[in-house]
Amino acid sequence: MTVRVEQFNCSPLIQDALFDCGRSAPRSIRVPSSGLSPNAFSMNAPATLSPSSLMLAIESSCDETAAAVVTKDLRILSSVVASQNELHERFGGVVPEIASRAHVQRILPVIDDAIRKAGIQLRDISVIGVVTQPGLVGSLLVGLTAAKTLALVLDKPLVAVNHIEGHIYACRLAAGRDIFPSIGLVVSGGHTNLYHCRSATQFDLIGATIDDAAGEAFDKVASVLGLPYPGGPMIEKVAQTGNSQAFRFPRTFIKEDRLDFSFSGVKTSVLYEANGQPGAHSQPPALTEARIADIAASFQAAVIDVLVTKCRQALRRFDCKTLCVGGGVAANSAFRQALEELARRDRIELHLSPREYCTDNAAMAAVGWELYAEGRLAPLDQDVVPGLVRKSESESAASTT
Ligand code: KG4
Ligand code: ZN
Repeated sequence: MTVRVEQFNCSPLIQDALFDCGRSAPRSIRVPSSGLSPNAFSMNAPATLSPSSLMLAIESSCDETAAAVVTKDLRILSSVVASQNELHERFGGVVPEIASRAHVQRILPVIDDAIRKAGIQLRDISVIGVVTQPGLVGSLLVGLTAAKTLALVLDKPLVAVNHIEGHIYACRLAAGRDIFPSIGLVVSGGHTNLYHCRSATQFDLIGATIDDAAGEAFDKVASVLGLPYPGGPMIEKVAQTGNSQAFRFPRTFIKEDRLDFSFSGVKTSVLYEANGQPGAHSQPPALTEARIADIAASFQAAVIDVLVTKCRQALRRFDCKTLCVGGGVAANSAFRQALEELARRDRIELHLSPREYCTDNAAMAAVGWELYAEGRLAPLDQDVVPGLVRKSESESAASTT
């Protein structure tokens, strides 16, 4: 069977770039008549690449379409993120079907932009890294399909990256050196997970939210307070003029010796404070600007209190002195200050994801370089894994043997 490049529905820019690859990327590719070997790439040991070799990283797990070019020695040559906030704003949260359709429209221009901004040609890429888990199934599939197509056309190895590991790896990129073993907290719109990170790619889940993620709670509370989506940055902004002691919102599990989180209680308390309790006889006070600021500041303080306390408990439980924090909520200044305070008090080495790499981006998928070094290449029948895998690989292996 012969697959023609034109059939891949490339943007004209990518198409030009592919054709421009000349010798290394023929206009048509011979595929065995029995179909693709499922292990087309994974059976090859990775080649030894120079420190300046290039990875094209692709991320589309939720509502950001992103691509980046990162060298093997972890220099970020470009990082392009196309946000979909304007598409989801009126729904107050991400609508999966809208997200995947927008990814389809944006993925090739975004990749093209990343290649251009890096000042390279598509043929210069050595490895393609793509986020395949966890996330929205339709969104993940768009990035994976683009990555597989490019891997096939360019005849380059493919690496399947875990989004959560990527969020922690943003700390590694900023540190410029190894930061493992460590306790890792990923706190985003979809996840609030604590890990014992034994290495960049060996994570044991030691705690997680049992209901809402922290970022999700920020978004829902913002919606209750009449603030636009995404709520986290808006809550942070209005909280600056509020009194964080004005309301004592619940801090679920804070005194318990468990590393899980729950944010539905604080969210409901905010709802009642803002709109009144169902069945109550009296009306709540009007939601003035000052009251909104006080509620936002008190809510933010409650969430930060819980997050910082659980980090502290995890560090103690695992007798660990290094903490890494990533994910969208890690962009929050009050949270960063509270973590810095914890680090000073308990003499912890703290690695915060740089603000621009807290929310979803593709540079963090450079964790794929670690997988590449371990020879963990993805086959061309690689699938997406939308849900959170709760067990570490070693535990999974142990439980199936
Ligand atoms: O990591 P991310 O971009 O996407 C997921 O993987 O979920 O995180 C997005 C989340 C949203 O819920 C957003 O409200 C929250 O991160 N967020 C913030 C801030 N910036 C983004 N939350 C609190 N304060 C912020 N400054
Ligand atoms: Zn994320």
